[in-house]
Amino acid sequence: MRDISRGQQSMKPRKVDDKMRFGLMWPNSPSPNVTSLAVAERNPDVLDMDSHIALARTAEKIGVDFVFFADGYTNHGEHNARVGHGEPCISAPIWAPIVMAATDHIGVVTTMHARYLSPVVLARLGANLDVLSGGRWGWNIVPGAKGSEARLFGISSEIEHDERYAVVEETLAAVRALWNARGKPIDFNGKYYHLEGVPRGPYPVQESPLIFNAGVSPAGQDFIARNADYAFFAVVEDLAQVARTVEELGDKTEASGRSRLEVNLAGSIGYVIGSTAAEAQEKYDWIRDSVDMDAARGWARGFLSGSQTYQSNFGGEFDEAARKIGLAAGSRVLVGTAADVAEQIIEINRQTGLRGFMWLSLIWDPAEVALLGDVLPYLEKAGLWEPPSSRGWSW
Ligand SMILES: Cc1cc2nc3c(=O)[nH]c(=O)nc-3n(C[C@H](O)[C@H](O)[C@H](O)COP(=O)(O)O)c2cc1C
Repeated sequence: MRDISRGQQSMKPRKVDDKMRFGLMWPNSPSPNVTSLAVAERNPDVLDMDSHIALARTAEKIGVDFVFFADGYTNHGEHNARVGHGEPCISAPIWAPIVMAATDHIGVVTTMHARYLSPVVLARLGANLDVLSGGRWGWNIVPGAKGSEARLFGISSEIEHDERYAVVEETLAAVRALWNARGKPIDFNGKYYHLEGVPRGPYPVQESPLIFNAGVSPAGQDFIARNADYAFFAVVEDLAQVARTVEELGDKTEASGRSRLEVNLAGSIGYVIGSTAAEAQEKYDWIRDSVDMDAARGWARGFLSGSQTYQSNFGGEFDEAARKIGLAAGSRVLVGTAADVAEQIIEINRQTGLRGFMWLSLIWDPAEVALLGDVLPYLEKAGLWEPPSSRGWSW
């Protein structure tokens, strides 16, 4: 008998290996990664669907494994809004289907917060996104770290940081119970949620849609070790710190009875590429000099307030931290020709063991993002990367 509804099937298999993976932070505001009006004006129109279609096709063509939609509900302050940093901010689950429709293989990851939405809504959105993409959706499940968001949602009994991860873990269990219902009643009894009944399909195409998380605290990393397929964190200037994160996450993953390779890593990292080193440096200097410090302070305040770990990582003078955060959220920025950038990636891999990256585009028009395509062949030659097409477009 013919299935009455099956949908497109272009499922992304999960392949556990030690080859590099690359994600692309999706532009969700005029200038998502730099607090700069000049950069916002230089970028395409974030509210124009055609901007997203063109970029999606570029990302897939050059060999990016997945794109990542961050999301949030309150802006970082009046100065950020003035320069187009994080304002307006497109909704991840609403805009992700544009990328899905414009591509065939690339993974599409959306951030959706536990706590703000019921597991029933999250399960329904997630299942529909997985079906729409034919089985190449991933979920960045985050606890929501901003006090301004909790107040906006009217969550009056604000809970402390580590317990937020307990809510995240239970939310994931509840959502998985809903996905596994497949037309049968569920009776989920947790500490935070009690769910009873028969949820409607569709159900996910992938056996388990991929789980992403960017926790950096011990509680966040414990959650990742037990539940996540991908972990994000910033590749900061201090590579010894990055190496420690890679090591600790690997140890925790093994302690939870999983192989260290089961959690793929994606270190967020900026890039500015030019056809000559001088051209790249000139572009980088222009971006750096255009950073709006009032907006950088706004971002830094939000960034640091939600995480003790960030506070201790950035330490020192507030303005110094803000200056770093205003440019690529404090991530390292690789500057040079494609060959120079590849060399820097190889060196980071050698020093830290990091085997995955998420590119932060400072300028995100497709012509700039396409330059990343020239970096990857150098990594292939070094035996660190294989084109997605030759490994079945695996996650
Ligand atoms: C690359 C990256 C992307 C992130 N994206 C989001 C996001 O879209 N929405 C959000 O609320 N938090 C996001 N975060 C923040 C994390 O969810 C988390 O709050 C932060 O890393 C602090 O970790 P901790 O809670 O373990 O201290 C992101 C963090 C990183 C490093």
